Amino acid sequence: MYEPKKFTIPELEGLSAEGIKQHIGLYEGYVKNFNAISALLPEYAKDSEKNAHALSELIRRRSFEFGGMRLHEHYFAQFEGGAKPIASDGAFAKQLEKEYTKIEHLIPYLTTIGNMRGPGWAILYFDPVGKQFLTGFSEQQHQGHFVTLPIILALDVWEHAYLLDYGATGKGKYMEAFFKNLNWQVMEERFERLQK
Ligand SMILES: [Fe+2]
Repeated sequence: MYEPKKFTIPELEGLSAEGIKQHIGLYEGYVKNFNAISALLPEYAKDSEKNAHALSELIRRRSFEFGGMRLHEHYFAQFEGGAKPIASDGAFAKQLEKEYTKIEHLIPYLTTIGNMRGPGWAILYFDPVGKQFLTGFSEQQHQGHFVTLPIILALDVWEHAYLLDYGATGKGKYMEAFFKNLNWQVMEERFERLQK
């Protein structure tokens, strides 16, 4: 059983406290549903033949709920501590420079991915084997991932992330606000943990 995490999020520029509060409520729903499905599975598995259809749907749903839980934990943590730049002489900045020339080139690229149609997440991963970043789009939250790769940055582009502040057509403005409020030290720590 998982417990919803608590986040200390300061006042953000262009992302309202009410929007964040509602969004955290949705995140807590993913945790609750992951736990609820996990609790149901052993009972259904007792007669897997009779419950084959119900079981397969529960198993498919469970990774959806888990993805929603874990990605939102990555997402909200990125605002904690308030907007902060990357340490310019660190390994993270150097790797970004090597692949994207500079951080300013990564942001439009992630924004382009975020503009893809359909609910999902624009994600920056790091591959410790190939020693390079990979960017991608996870549809909903459990599909399209680069398997096993740790997530460095997660940008939620489901409508619920921006509907309250910017309306149904406000994804572009929302993404601008998202990048203004990031504490890049959080992403830097995620990257540095992989270098050990
Ligand atoms: Fe979300």
